[in-house]
Amino acid sequence: MNEFCKNLPKIELHAHLNGSLSSQTLKKLGCFDESIEEYHRLNKVMERSSRTLDECFLLFKVAHNATRTKEAVYTATKDVIEEFFNDNAIYLELRTTPRSEECMTMEEYVETVVKAIQDNKLNIIVKLLLSIDRRYQLPASDNVMNLIIKMKNKYPDIIKGVDLSGNPNVGIFNSELFKKAKESGLSLSLHCGEVKNDKEVEEMLFLNPDRIGHATCIHPKYEGSEELWNLYCQKLIPAECCLTSNVVCGTSKSYANHHILEWIKNDLPFTISTDDKGVFNTTLSTEYELLQRHFDLNDSDLWKINYNSIDYSFAESSEKDKLRDIMLEWKTKYMK
Ligand code: IMP
Ligand code: ZN
Repeated sequence: MNEFCKNLPKIELHAHLNGSLSSQTLKKLGCFDESIEEYHRLNKVMERSSRTLDECFLLFKVAHNATRTKEAVYTATKDVIEEFFNDNAIYLELRTTPRSEECMTMEEYVETVVKAIQDNKLNIIVKLLLSIDRRYQLPASDNVMNLIIKMKNKYPDIIKGVDLSGNPNVGIFNSELFKKAKESGLSLSLHCGEVKNDKEVEEMLFLNPDRIGHATCIHPKYEGSEELWNLYCQKLIPAECCLTSNVVCGTSKSYANHHILEWIKNDLPFTISTDDKGVFNTTLSTEYELLQRHFDLNDSDLWKINYNSIDYSFAESSEKDKLRDIMLEWKTKYMK
C-alpha cells in the first residue's frame, strides 16, 4: 500500500451502506453463514474475466440478508463508519435504500442508521443520503420519497440528500419525483449513464442534480454522444468516479481506459469513491493508489482532488471550513 494514499485525509461521497460491509462484519452478524458462502461463490464469479452487472447485483442480496434486524443495521453502520475512519477518511457520505423487513419498518430502518451516525464518536463527519431504487414504480416510489422527506425534516443535520440507484438495466427515472426532493431542500446525486441510455442521461442532466454517480456513458468515446458530452460540459456537475466498481462490473474495460481520463484531461469536476468497498473488495486508499498508478498523477494532484471534493459535498458550510483546515494543516505538515 502506498503510504501517501493511506495517510492522506480523504473525502468519500459515494458509499452504499450494504455494499460497503466487510466480510468481517458479515461474519460478525452471524447466523448467515450460508449467505457468506454464497457471497464468496459470487466473488469467484466476479473474478472471471466476463461477468455481468446483474451478477454484481446478486451480491447485494447477501448483505441484505445479513441486515434484517435493527441490531444488525446498527452494527453494520457503525462498522462501516469505523472502517472508513481507519482508512483516514475525514468525511463520509453514506447512502442507503430504506427497506422494511419482517421485524423492522422502513422508518425504523432509517432511524437505526441515523442513530448509529449520531452515536459516532470518531473524528469523521458522517452524513446520510437516502436512496430510491430504480425498480420502484408509482405509487411506491412516491411513498418512499415522502418518507425520505419526513426523515430529512426530522434529522436535517444528518440526512442531506437523495440518491437514485439500483440495477441500471431495470426501471425508469422519474424526473418529477426528484424535483419534489429538490423542492424539499434535499440535495440530489443520481446514478447516471452506468449503461448506455442517452435519453435518460439527458433528462437527468436537465434536472441539474448536485452530483452524478459513475457518469460512464456520456462521452462519445465511452458509448455516450457528442450532444450529451456538450450538455455535460455546460452543466459541469461533479462526477463521483468509482474505478474498481466500474472495472469489476465491466462497465469500464480497464483502469487505463476508464472515462475519468476525460475529466482529468479537461479539468472537469470529479471525486473518487469506493461505491461498495465490501462487494468490490477495495478501500478508498486503494482507489487513490489505482488513480495515481494509471493516470500518472502526483501526490499534490491527489491532495487537490480531496480538497475540491469538500466543495462538492453536502456538508454545512462551517463543516466544510473545518475540513479545509484539516486538509491544509496536513499539507503543511506532510507535503513539501
Ligand atoms: P443499500 O442501499 O445500503 O442497501 O446498498 C446496496 C444497494 O445500493 C444495492 O442494492 C443497489 O440498489 C445500490 N447500489 C450499489 N452499488 C450500485 C451501483 O454501482 N449502481 C447502482 N446501484 C448500486
Ligand atoms: Zn453506486
